[in-house]
This record gives sequence, structure tokens and C-alpha cells, in this order.
Amino acid sequence: MSGEDISVLLDEKRIFKPKEELVNQTNVKQWMDIHDIKDDKELYKKAGNWEWFWEEISKDLVEWYEPYKKVVEWKVPYVKWFVGAKYNIVHDAVDKHVKTWRKNKVAFIFEGEPGDVKKITYNDLYIEVNKLANSLKKLGVKKGDRVGIYLPMILELPIAMLACAKIGAIHSVVFSGFSAIAFRDRVNDCDAKVVITCDGFWRRGTKVYLKQQADEALENAPSVKHCVVVKRTGDGIPWTPSRDVWWHDLVFNSPKECETERLDANDPLYFLYTSGTTGKPKGIIHAHGGYAVGTAYTLNWVFDMKDTDIWWCAADIGWVTGHSYIVYAPLILGATSVLYEGAPNWPQPDRWWEIIERYNVTLLYTSPTSIRLFMKYGEDWVKKHDLSTLRLLGSVGEPINPEAWIWYYKYIGNENCPIMDTWWQTETGHFVISPLPITPLKPGSASHPLPGLAADVINEEGKPVQNAGGNLVITHPWPGMLRGIHKAPERYEKTYWSKFKGLYLAGDVTRKDSDNYFWIQGRADDVLKISGHRIGNSEVESALVSHPLVAEAAVIGKPHSLKGESISSFVVLKKGVEPSDSLRIKLQQHVSNELGKIAKPDEIWFVSDVPKTRSGKIMRRVIRAKALGEEVGDISTLANPEAVDEIGKAV
Ligand code: WT7
Repeated sequence: MSGEDISVLLDEKRIFKPKEELVNQTNVKQWMDIHDIKDDKELYKKAGNWEWFWEEISKDLVEWYEPYKKVVEWKVPYVKWFVGAKYNIVHDAVDKHVKTWRKNKVAFIFEGEPGDVKKITYNDLYIEVNKLANSLKKLGVKKGDRVGIYLPMILELPIAMLACAKIGAIHSVVFSGFSAIAFRDRVNDCDAKVVITCDGFWRRGTKVYLKQQADEALENAPSVKHCVVVKRTGDGIPWTPSRDVWWHDLVFNSPKECETERLDANDPLYFLYTSGTTGKPKGIIHAHGGYAVGTAYTLNWVFDMKDTDIWWCAADIGWVTGHSYIVYAPLILGATSVLYEGAPNWPQPDRWWEIIERYNVTLLYTSPTSIRLFMKYGEDWVKKHDLSTLRLLGSVGEPINPEAWIWYYKYIGNENCPIMDTWWQTETGHFVISPLPITPLKPGSASHPLPGLAADVINEEGKPVQNAGGNLVITHPWPGMLRGIHKAPERYEKTYWSKFKGLYLAGDVTRKDSDNYFWIQGRADDVLKISGHRIGNSEVESALVSHPLVAEAAVIGKPHSLKGESISSFVVLKKGVEPSDSLRIKLQQHVSNELGKIAKPDEIWFVSDVPKTRSGKIMRRVIRAKALGEEVGDISTLANPEAVDEIGKAV
């Protein structure tokens, strides 16, 4: 984020008070009444007794097979929640509903990009999950085994995740926009036994042939014994008979009942890879019990989920937002959700508004990048549609600039819908800092840590700071807390727990104002946020230097009006290699092949050297300052100060 944006945020003084008639009907208010809590001040205070609070909250949301003996066990930096309980999240997400009136309630309204629509009820979901779960068992998948899932936004994706969880297997979903190489690396890191993919899918009117990418990945994935393939587009695809099996053949005749594995509440549910400051993504581990409570609670209170709501979290299930708020939390609450396959602006920029009108969506959750995209197209596209069913809006993934906030509020919400700016991370599993529908809103601020959660802003010495930037930390464990990084316990301890003793380091620069509102200002580490998605600077650098003509590369983020940040790279070519425009395009394509389209550098500058310390560490901060025309500071300790001038000349 640029200095200018920060000063805009600092100046933001508008406050939007919640409407009284709305407040009284909210789930949170009703809970307060039952618990004799008179106002939000008392609510936050009482929830400060967090063990009591989570115990109380869990009662309304989940059903254990066998009760827990202890709410929480905290041995820094490892936590266990609902210790001793027997549990499986699929019981709450699917099984329990088929015994109630919700059996015939629609769980998902699916809309494909070409316009095909399919609605499935909780009972349909129950049967499909059971059939696939039985089939996975037949393929030899057992409790604790890993299954790699490489699927787009189609119904088989949540079904596959739930089928894995049902039998106690661990799913590892890889975003379908990631490259074959990215998929391969993740499959190998978790030693997946089976992978699930599809022939292809639609994106912006064209087909993406996912099976070909999966095949490329599986050439070097020795742990994978079977590849299950969903038929989505129906095109001819390459086939390896000894390994590949069609989903529809596999589940044909598979029994419609499958007993849900009674797991320990702390058994792992999934791994999800996210970028850090090294070239290697981290396999974040989440467990069944606490995650179920944390995700369902936050959705229930923040978005005030009612049985009459139509929920649309317009993220991709391949990211944590989709795991928590398209799959698990809405299902636990028995909600009806929209699942849309395609691009937001296809065939026209009003596709989303059409969907909201068609299905009477009441709750919309999206990212600042999407909002800015729609702003760019203009409100005339919005005005063509009746969006009056909407009652609450949400934002996630990056700081929302007040301008986008106001546009969202005015044109999408018709000045009637509060905006829930939810701060959280892949690691946290669910919202940590977020308003409730009873909270006065300040555009651009995620407001306060939710009841039961606690965060603070501290300086380098570990002292709390107010009205100044500092480190965002979470000060006690929370139910959806990550349980570690797969195969990397040292990295887990070092990344999150080593800087401040006993406190979780989030990696975001944050400011707390005089009213204790939190203003998240951007990453403090070398992690980029491109359209709200995390990409490590060093991941892009490694991809660049993996090209045979590249000797060295340095990658920085630049403020971008749509994507939040764009990727700018400085490349040193090998001796004798001539820079050219065609090479520039080749390198962009190379990174796209290595990592996926979202990591493709927007700019590539050829230089003869990049600024480094005497120990050889690339000084991204210096490069960034120079490239943005900001004050560079003291560079006398650099090994090659002249490289800084070259950066200045290049851009
Ligand atoms: C990082 C986590 C959590 C789901 C999507 C991203 C940034 C997230 C906000 C927000 C300002 C935000 C932070 C955070 N971020 N939400 N409401 N306001 N920044 O998950 O890829 O794990 O990224 O996204 O920088 O650390 P993620």
C-alpha cells in the first residue's frame, strides 16, 4: 500500500451506525438476550472469559459423538480444542440435516458459466457424498491418507471435500487457476494417494483443459495411485487406463449409505497451501472440531445467517475463503448457497447482478478487487437489476479503500446494507477481526476482534501501540487456529511464534485508532497481495531464475488501482544473453507456467545487477523505494550501491 493510501485511511472519519430495527433481530442480539447481556460492551467483556464463551457458543452449533473433557489445551505454540471429543465435521455439515426438515432444503444453487443450473438439496448432497466416500474407500483411501483435489467451481468440489472428511482422509485442494507445476509440488509435499480433477471447465467463454494439466503434474508424482476425473465439458481427453477413472463410473452402483468415521475432534481435516516469504508454500493444517465451531460461529454472527437467507460467498473454493465460507460454515448452519463457476464479467459486466436478482441473494461476500472491477464498469450495469433482496455485504482479502467501500455501500447495498470487512487468514481459519451487524462502521477498518477472539497492535519491543503502525498479533488461541505446517514444525514456530513470546504474529502492519478500531495496512513481510491472493516475492523470483537464460531476479509489489498490488520484477540475464521484448514475454509466460496466471509479472525490467547486502541478500525494500520514487535511505552498507541507480534508470 502506498503512503498516499495510508494517509487517506488516516483521514477517514465517517461512521455508519447500524439501524435500530436491524439490530434487534440479529442472531448476536438474540444470543445476548438469552444470556442477559445488555449491550455490546458487556458482550465483549463477558467473552473475554474465552473458555466459557467457546463452550457456550459450541452448544448451539455442533453435535459431538462423544463429549469433550476439556474446552482447550494450550501449550505454546500448539493448541487442542474440545479435547477428548469424538467428532466429524461432516456430521454437522451434512448428516444431521437429513434427519430434520432441512433434508429437502437446497444446499447449493449451482450456475455454470454457460448458464446451466443445478440445485441440490441436503439429501442429494448426503447421497453424493456417501457414494463418493464409499468409492474412495474402494480405491484404498484410509483415515489419515491425503487426497489432492484440483477442481474448478463445480458441485463435485464440495462433494469431494466432504467425502474425504467423511472417511477421515485429509483433503488438499489446489486452486484450479494454479499451474500443473504448482499442483505437482503440493501433491508431492503431502504424498497424495489419490487425486480428483475434471476434463475441463469454462472460463470467460473458453474451455480450460484441466486434465491435461493434471496429467503433466502426475508425470512426477509417485505417491498418486489413482486419478478420479469428473466429466464437465465432455471433450476428449488424454487417458491413462491403469490410473484414471471417471467419477461417474466410480460412483455408479456405489452404496448410498456410508458411515461417518468417528474421529478425534483434533484430527486433521485438511491441508491448504499458502505462500510465505520463502519459495516454498506452507501446507497449513486445520482440524475438525475447533474449525467447525469457529467457522460456523463467525458466519452466524457476522453475516447473521437465517434459514430464509440466500448466501453467496463469491470466492473460489480453492482458497481458504471458499473452504470456510462456501463449504463448511454454511453447511453446518444449514444454509442455501450460490456456487458460480465462471468469470464475473462474462458475458457482460452485470453477470453477478443478474445472479443476485435471479436467486434473490440476501448476503454477498466478496473482495475489494472485485468491487473495484465493478466500479470501473460503472453503476449503470448495477442499476439494470433489482438487488433489493440484499441485506448484508462483506469484504475480505485485502484492505478495502474507503472509496470502494462507499461505492459498494451506495450502489450494491442501496445504502441499506452494513458492510462486514472481515480480517483473517488461511492460518486463522475464520474471521478474527470483523464488525458485527450491531457495530458502528468506519469505512476501511475491520473494526474490532470478535467476541471470544483477541488481537493487539504492538511495536518491535512488544509494547501495545495506539494511533501508530505496529505488528498485528493474536493474543490467545482461537478454535480455528492452524495446527501447524505439514512436515515443517520449525517453520511453524519460527514464522508465527518466535518474534513475540506466546503471541501469534500475523504479518500485517496495523494501526489501532483512539476508538480501538483496527486499520490493517498491508503485509509487513515479503508477501504480495495480488487481487487479495497471497504470493511470495521469492516464489516469483525462484520461478524467474528457473528459466535457463536468467541469472538473478528481484520482485517487488507496486500499488495497483484494481488488483491492490501488481508484480514488478528486475531480471539479470546470464552472460551474453541480449534483452528483448520477446524474451520479456517468454519470461512472463514462464512464470505463469510455473506458478499460475495470477503470479505472472506485470512488468519485467532488465538490469545488469540488483542491489544486495554484503551477505548477498537482495534488498527488495531499497528496490521498491527506488522504483516508486520514494526516499531510499542509507545504502552505504550495500555491496553494490551503483545497482540502485540502475533500478532508477530502468523504470
Ligand atoms: C492476508 C491473509 C482470509 C481469506 C482471504 C485471504 C490480508 C485479509 C483482510 C481485510 C485487510 C486483509 C491480510 C492477511 N487480508 N482480509 N479484511 N483487510 N487485509 O487469505 O491468502 O491467507 O491472506 O490477507 O494481509 O494477512 P490469505
